[in-house]
Amino acid sequence: MTTPTSHNHYDEKLAGVYDRMYPLEFDTGPAVDLLAELTPPGGRILELGVGTGRIALPLAQRGYQVLGLDASEAMLAQLKKADPEGTVEGVLGDFTQTHTGREFDLVSVMINTFFFAVTQEQQLSALRLVREQLAPGGRFLLEVFDPASYHNLQGQEVSFRQLDPGSFMLNTVTVERSLQLLLATHTVVDGGGAPQTTQHVIRYAFPSELDLLARLSGLRLVHRWEDWSKQPYTARSTRHVSVYARDDDPVLAGDGGDGSCDA
Ligand SMILES: C[S@@+](CC[C@H](N)C(=O)[O-])C[C@H]1O[C@@H](n2cnc3c(N)ncnc32)[C@H](O)[C@@H]1O
Repeated sequence: MTTPTSHNHYDEKLAGVYDRMYPLEFDTGPAVDLLAELTPPGGRILELGVGTGRIALPLAQRGYQVLGLDASEAMLAQLKKADPEGTVEGVLGDFTQTHTGREFDLVSVMINTFFFAVTQEQQLSALRLVREQLAPGGRFLLEVFDPASYHNLQGQEVSFRQLDPGSFMLNTVTVERSLQLLLATHTVVDGGGAPQTTQHVIRYAFPSELDLLARLSGLRLVHRWEDWSKQPYTARSTRHVSVYARDDDPVLAGDGGDGSCDA
């Protein structure tokens, strides 16, 4: 596997099935509750990789001002369809490069979307942009999988998921450990149509690397949980929800600099 240079923004095929891949009952309710808890009422939220608005739309309905950045015109078109009144402001852009020119009380990036930045340099650039767009007292929330179970994967991992009674998705995963790259292939078999295959390459990172990149960007970890209901993150956790503050945030005043703060 060579280092990819193209963006992982979703094409029309994937945009068309996205809401069936991640149905609303997934874990959207608890996610929206936690994001709301971290944001002052009516506050400004930037979601990186907003997609079809699974999270952004319920937040806008609760009165937050939500700007959703996405590199995929097809996903933004789905968002527009779901939100013709434009309660969420959809903006075309790449979160590793785009500065919106505004400040936010919360910046969020959900379900592994951060790993779509496929080099360490791109991940660092994304975090520096987050820091620049974070208002004083603001929070950055990142939800990603823990790479432990994939890092030693030999060969291919295959799984199926039923999307609805008439269709299913076949997923395969391979890993290039030396580059921390994971190649995922999704094939959707839907009714009588020909199967449709899309591929993504992501660069996974362990929590320790994420925290160091964040620190280099002027951000500090303040919480790490294994899910949206704030269960403690442990050696058995398969993913994490991590919250960072600006390194000038008053909450860090008592932090000895070892990242142990959980305020
Ligand atoms: C897994 S979906 C997440 C969508 C939404 N956040 C959710 O939770 O349902 C990832 C989204 O990130 C977008 N994306 C991928 N790389 C991106 C980049 N570098 N900049 C902006 N958006 C990107 C894709 O187009 C896609 O819409």
